[in-house]
Amino acid sequence: MIAVYPGSFDPATYGHIDIIERSAKIADKLIVAVLNNSAKQPLFSAQERLDMLKETCKGIDNIEFAAFSGLLIDFAKNNGASAVIRGLRAVSDFEYEFQMALTNKILDEKIETLFISTSAQYAYLSSSIVKEVARFGGSVSSMIPDAIEKRLLQKIR
Ligand code: PNS
Repeated sequence: MIAVYPGSFDPATYGHIDIIERSAKIADKLIVAVLNNSAKQPLFSAQERLDMLKETCKGIDNIEFAAFSGLLIDFAKNNGASAVIRGLRAVSDFEYEFQMALTNKILDEKIETLFISTSAQYAYLSSSIVKEVARFGGSVSSMIPDAIEKRLLQKIR
């Protein structure tokens, strides 16, 4: 099974990396797909987000990285994927995730959305929280890998 794990990854957190590691064990090939959408205003460029992900996931063999724009389902189809992976943290994620999954199902009924529940220690974690803590000088070393923390601190300074 080829699976796509899409997201903004602005930047990737330990929560994302945990989902990547776990889904790479289930999928034959996992494509981590970084959203490159001009409507969103990310802190990091798509290339920077890709570089950080590649650097962090070096040890995993069956993984590829790509940036995509437009519809996720078109990207999945063009890459032969039969599943989209999403991580679920709390109930508050559910409504948005369910809406996306149902929309994607309408767009292509052959591609399934698979939800993986977050590991408990990352249930609070999001890229926005990481950026906010870092902006106000708090430590984010338990939230993102060192290499990403370095780039984040450079970016917000
Ligand atoms: O990390 P995020 O920001 O929660 O990821 C959201 C993402 C990239 C999965 C979502 O915004 C997406 O798929 N965007 C592409 C546009 C699309 O396909 N929209 C229709 C599905 S609702």
